[in-house]
Amino acid sequence: MSTTRRPIAAGNWKMNLLSADAEAFCTALQPRLGGGSEVILFPSFPLLPAVAAGLAGAAAAWGGQDLHPEDAGAHTGDVSGSQLADAGCTWALCGHSERRQGHGEDDARVAAKIGAALRHRLRPMVCIGETREQRRAGKTLAVLERQLGAALDAVVAGAGDDLDPATGLALAYEPVWAIGSGETATPETAQEVHASLRRSVARRLGEAAADRLRILYGGSVKPGNAAELLAEPDLDGFLIGGASLDPASFSDIIAVCDRGADSR
Ligand code: PGA
Repeated sequence: MSTTRRPIAAGNWKMNLLSADAEAFCTALQPRLGGGSEVILFPSFPLLPAVAAGLAGAAAAWGGQDLHPEDAGAHTGDVSGSQLADAGCTWALCGHSERRQGHGEDDARVAAKIGAALRHRLRPMVCIGETREQRRAGKTLAVLERQLGAALDAVVAGAGDDLDPATGLALAYEPVWAIGSGETATPETAQEVHASLRRSVARRLGEAAADRLRILYGGSVKPGNAAELLAEPDLDGFLIGGASLDPASFSDIIAVCDRGADSR
């Protein structure tokens, strides 16, 4: 199958690294940029200026790991979409499972955050995924359908006719049991879910939109398993946690995505 979907290699640093690490990381990353894939970093908020400086002029983007649904106000500890945009962000993670689980974010809250991102011209990278218990109970697709439906409703409400599914957002399938566990979904398992998600997007937004939307996989992606995952036709790149903290392993995954871009 051939596709024009450009692979994404996105690094989610979570609550790791300091400014000096971020600077050194960007310096090491620079020579590995400029291939066929799209590279995005999601540092924690205090590191955004270091990343913005380190990637100035480079073929890479950065985004916030979270944002508040409102644009300003009395929300101690939160960050707004306008503040992310002001820090040069062009993306925002919405609905990462560590936010859903650790901060009680339900589908409605994630939808409100997607709306906030779109208001500030931040491209939402919407994360969805089932827990191990949900998978064991045979509820994987039902859970994903519910999370996806709420997210797509928010995207349509927020972007309307401006929606470009190729560039305006991305979806990240991240099975919760695979995150940080070393237990990656097999390529077959990931492909089955990605294909089902794309069919669901097609039912809601039409075939053309579904065909252009990038659906990333996340959960224990490493240089050693990225190529076999990316060989799956409905898998369009990665959201990478642990392996994105080291410029060498992140660059190796970028190289896999670059090769994938050339062969698609
Ligand atoms: P991991 O994290 O690559 O460390 O499993 C992925 C994520 O949570 O985005």
